[in-house]
Amino acid sequence: MRTFPPYRAQVVTEIPITTRAERERALAAAGYNAFNLPANMVTIDLLTDSGTGAVSAAQEAAATAADRSYAGSDSFHRFRAALSELTRYPHILPVHQGRAAERILFSSVLEAGKISLSNTHFDTTRANVELLGAEARDLPCAEFGDLDSSEPFKGNIDLDAVERLLTGPERERVGMVLLTITNNGGGGQPVSMANLAAASRLCRAHGVPIFLDAARFAENAWLVVQRESGYRDKTPREVAEEAFGLVDGCVASLKKDGISPMGAFIGLNDPELAQRCETNLIATEGFRTYGGLGAHDLDRVARGVHEVLDPNYLAARAADAARLADRAAEAGVDIVRPAGIHALYLNAGRLLPHIPASRFPGHSLACELYLQGGIRCVELGSLYLGTLDEDNELVTPAPFELVRIALPRRVYSQAHYDYVTDVLADIAKNPESVPGYRIVDAPKILRHFNLRMAPA
Ligand code: F0G
Repeated sequence: MRTFPPYRAQVVTEIPITTRAERERALAAAGYNAFNLPANMVTIDLLTDSGTGAVSAAQEAAATAADRSYAGSDSFHRFRAALSELTRYPHILPVHQGRAAERILFSSVLEAGKISLSNTHFDTTRANVELLGAEARDLPCAEFGDLDSSEPFKGNIDLDAVERLLTGPERERVGMVLLTITNNGGGGQPVSMANLAAASRLCRAHGVPIFLDAARFAENAWLVVQRESGYRDKTPREVAEEAFGLVDGCVASLKKDGISPMGAFIGLNDPELAQRCETNLIATEGFRTYGGLGAHDLDRVARGVHEVLDPNYLAARAADAARLADRAAEAGVDIVRPAGIHALYLNAGRLLPHIPASRFPGHSLACELYLQGGIRCVELGSLYLGTLDEDNELVTPAPFELVRIALPRRVYSQAHYDYVTDVLADIAKNPESVPGYRIVDAPKILRHFNLRMAPA
């Protein structure tokens, strides 16, 4: 089937075109850390799909007409109506972004010594569990570990492992189960409805609450329609509604599938839990009808969650990701299979075997994409996940050395993505010329945002 984006550009933003010499200077000044680069030195910015989507004219019109009343604004009522229609949760709490939702919900559900089980906790999610003195335990399914396997639902949680925990000696420590759809920490792979339903049955049988981290609820729904038998004739909206209905509530950053620059929400069935979260919300985020959000973003979200479920939009976005994956493979760069939607994960360890984990092949590839093409993306390998000694030398490497190329929503055209794979192909022609990197300075906490590196 031929697909194309169901929108056209009316307002555009110029992107910076730089020379190799300028990029070399900028990257050195940034301590070889892409998070330190000024955005005006980046040509194609694939650092994240979060808050970077292009808003529609309808969203901007709604934002202009937003109601900034402190309490009970019309904008909040539109926000709540859109999200309660989608999720059917009676309690919808707005917050400024996903990690605030995590902090507020988890502090009402977990405490020191408890365990949160997940297919994979995203990094801020893990941090918000650990800040409470609780443990974030990832239980991805077995296929998750095979980067080349084309299993359709590598985002699934390992149900046997969940059952063992819920029937074993650690049962009392399990405070919640959190399913991340799609699994961002795990290659952007989807979770099947069968897995979600089975996890939910297990949790209900053992009296443990189960929530979704639903940042990419629409993309997960699209992949379910494409890949899961029994769902082929459903709309993405029907699948998303069913997913929300299988669990007790959710946290969701709306900077992804809300196509909003800012925003998130907590959705809950349990009135008593919602009450506790609301108290925390008012004390730390803002009143319950804005939760730290500007009214304009409440209205952008109300439209965004509707637009994101358009099958024509999802088909075109998935086609962009699939084409990028095919072209990367043609260029000789392996990716985590099968291609998801929000990002492509490049197997840098395999492309750059001459660089040991201790010299960070993922980071090397990310730097090379910037130096050769002005493309910004992020390492997901030993720099991010490995453990270091006192001298910042790698002690335990990550299981994989990956680079994430995230796709902002409705922003870049296929010509931009073809440029990205052309640059990748150039790198893949001469991979031995790519240098490794060593750490010059790394803070103990959240190091990938702040570290400084140098070519090894
Ligand atoms: N959960 C998932 C699965 C995420 O991907 C993110 C953010 C969050 C929670 C936190 O949401 O940013 O609104 O506070 N992911 C971004 C990324 C930052 O680049 O993947 P937030």
